[in-house]
Amino acid sequence: MAESITIKSPHEIEIMRRAAQITAGARSMGRQAVRDGLTTRQIDRAVHEYIVKNGGKPSCLGYEGFPAATCVSVNDEVIHGIPGKRIVRNGDIVSIDLCAAYRGFIGDCAGTYPVGEVSEEAKKLIEVTRQAFFEGIRFAKVGYRVHDIGEAVQDYVESHGFSVVRDFVGHGIGRSMHEAPEVPNYRPEGHRPNPRLVKGMTICVEPMVCAGDWRIRILNDGWTVVTADHSLAAHYENTILITDGEPEILTMADDI
Ligand code: CO
Repeated sequence: MAESITIKSPHEIEIMRRAAQITAGARSMGRQAVRDGLTTRQIDRAVHEYIVKNGGKPSCLGYEGFPAATCVSVNDEVIHGIPGKRIVRNGDIVSIDLCAAYRGFIGDCAGTYPVGEVSEEAKKLIEVTRQAFFEGIRFAKVGYRVHDIGEAVQDYVESHGFSVVRDFVGHGIGRSMHEAPEVPNYRPEGHRPNPRLVKGMTICVEPMVCAGDWRIRILNDGWTVVTADHSLAAHYENTILITDGEPEILTMADDI
């Protein structure tokens, strides 16, 4: 994590926009590949090919040794699922999370999608997680601080009977995937840096929501994060730009 927050110049923002567009397009491709009978590896391949065809580089591949372009996390898996032979089936929910680099800048986004017909609880979880992002970014403006975002996310999620993950947080982004500041989805305890939001900051707001308890475990593969109680989990993330007015969602696409 970079020491200090980087403020992007207008030229850098132009490049970030393109990186983020590629990232968002790749998420749309991945979403279309979330279909009964496909493996998580096939979903990853669709994402990976899209990124490369559009002039990007898959930044998750090789990041701290992660072996794929896409994190694919199924049902009780929250984040960082490793694509492989697992077949997704009708009734599953599948989270995809990916980053693409373009001319040295990185975009990052995620979403959770149903395979066929899923339970009412799963539908509600997906929708609450997505809406929590939009509740949070109401405060992603000059005049607020980073923790205002997470407080809004937490309140919204808990008001619907779900919980937010504490062990992983959103983050600044730019030339590095993870820059300062940390962007928690909850009210941090104790004294934690809570910077003011400034025009030209680019950050990732990414609620990770559990249908049950928020405590997580990491599987023996060293990556896959699962809910400790095996309740369903969902994830939704966009890269956003702080402006003079409303935040700009850089990883915007028709289907977000
Ligand atoms: Co992220």
